[in-house]
Amino acid sequence: MGKYLERAETVVKRIEELSSITEEQGCITRTYGTKAFLEGRNKVYDWMVAAGLETSFDNIGNVRGKLLSDTLNAKTFVIGSHIDTVVNAGKFDGPLGVLMGLDILEQLIQSKAKLPFHIELIAFSDEEGVRFHTTYLGSKVVAGSFESITLDRKDANGIALKEVIAENGGDYLLLEKDKIEDWLGYFEIHIEQGPVLYERNIPVAVVTAIAGQRRAEITFIGVAGHAGTVPMDMRQDALATAADFIIETEKFALLKKDKLVATTGKLEVVQSASNVIPGKVICSLDLRSADLEVLNIAYEKIKAICDEAAEKRKVLVEWNLVQQTTPTLCDEKLTNQLKDSIGKSGYPIIELVSGAGHDGVPISAVSPITMLFVRCFKGISHNPLENAETVDIAAAIEVGEGFINMVLSNKL
Ligand code: HGY
Ligand code: MN
Ligand code: MN
Repeated sequence: MGKYLERAETVVKRIEELSSITEEQGCITRTYGTKAFLEGRNKVYDWMVAAGLETSFDNIGNVRGKLLSDTLNAKTFVIGSHIDTVVNAGKFDGPLGVLMGLDILEQLIQSKAKLPFHIELIAFSDEEGVRFHTTYLGSKVVAGSFESITLDRKDANGIALKEVIAENGGDYLLLEKDKIEDWLGYFEIHIEQGPVLYERNIPVAVVTAIAGQRRAEITFIGVAGHAGTVPMDMRQDALATAADFIIETEKFALLKKDKLVATTGKLEVVQSASNVIPGKVICSLDLRSADLEVLNIAYEKIKAICDEAAEKRKVLVEWNLVQQTTPTLCDEKLTNQLKDSIGKSGYPIIELVSGAGHDGVPISAVSPITMLFVRCFKGISHNPLENAETVDIAAAIEVGEGFINMVLSNKL
């Protein structure tokens, strides 16, 4: 474990360095295309160059570090994760997978390993989708599933995605060229973002599937009015409607808690004032299940809950489905090799479903994917208390490296 601990310490040092780059002092926020994002991206670029990878930025802003095989027409095995964050994020969600991938490739370069196929390390530029309420911008481009309509999405300041791409040196007309044509496989290391490994004191787990998602933006349109003069039974209160919807949705999801999660993470009262009956409210819905049927039924039920809350108060609803993904299975063959590596390292073999989304979701349409989870403190994530112990990172390096070496020797 000694040599892995040393390497894990380097990973943690780099994570600390990256986490010091932020849009907001006092917390970690690096959303797509901002100045802080670019500064963080440049740091990852420099680390990749220093490691000896053939490094570049692609047009959507991913950082891509290639380790080329002598076999020119060889396929490409990708190791990746994301370097954008949520607001007030933890240090590990995303960067851990990128910097562990970098560590494993540094060792391969130093050992002058002969590669039967190309290996590419990718730091994806927008997995969280915070700025443009999208997700997987970077991984959709390399998977070839980026929809050009997304280019016109605007952020809270009315700036379009295509403007940000151009401003940051990308050419949004050339996104197609950044697609990887000849995938061999995809491997991502990520903190679990759940409590199982922490509770069971086990360092790593394989991921069998990634939950499907529905993300919607819901606008409630009532009538703004004077808080002092409009009788309670004559109001069309948009915020009371949204509140009713949120509480009833929570009650419904609690009834299905073994298979479903539903969250309203954003709530905006438009042109709010304490003495004005809210006329317009926008809220988000984030719905997830690993079971597609449960997801579909829940989605329709929650739309009905929304309509009921609105009808009660004569409020109109605009429902906009922003993103949907079906539950994604990880590749059995790759995951069995990952399990073999866990077994060889002497750790118990745990299989988990990921409630969190990951860049492997769009990539799974064009490549077999596999993921390794790393134990994190109480499963906390999307929170500055997020933490992974160096000793668990060392265990994951040992398992991840063992897996890559297996893939290299088996040539998959
Ligand atoms: O929301 C998620 O599942 C991930 O953190 N983007
Ligand atoms: Mn996340
Ligand atoms: Mn993540």
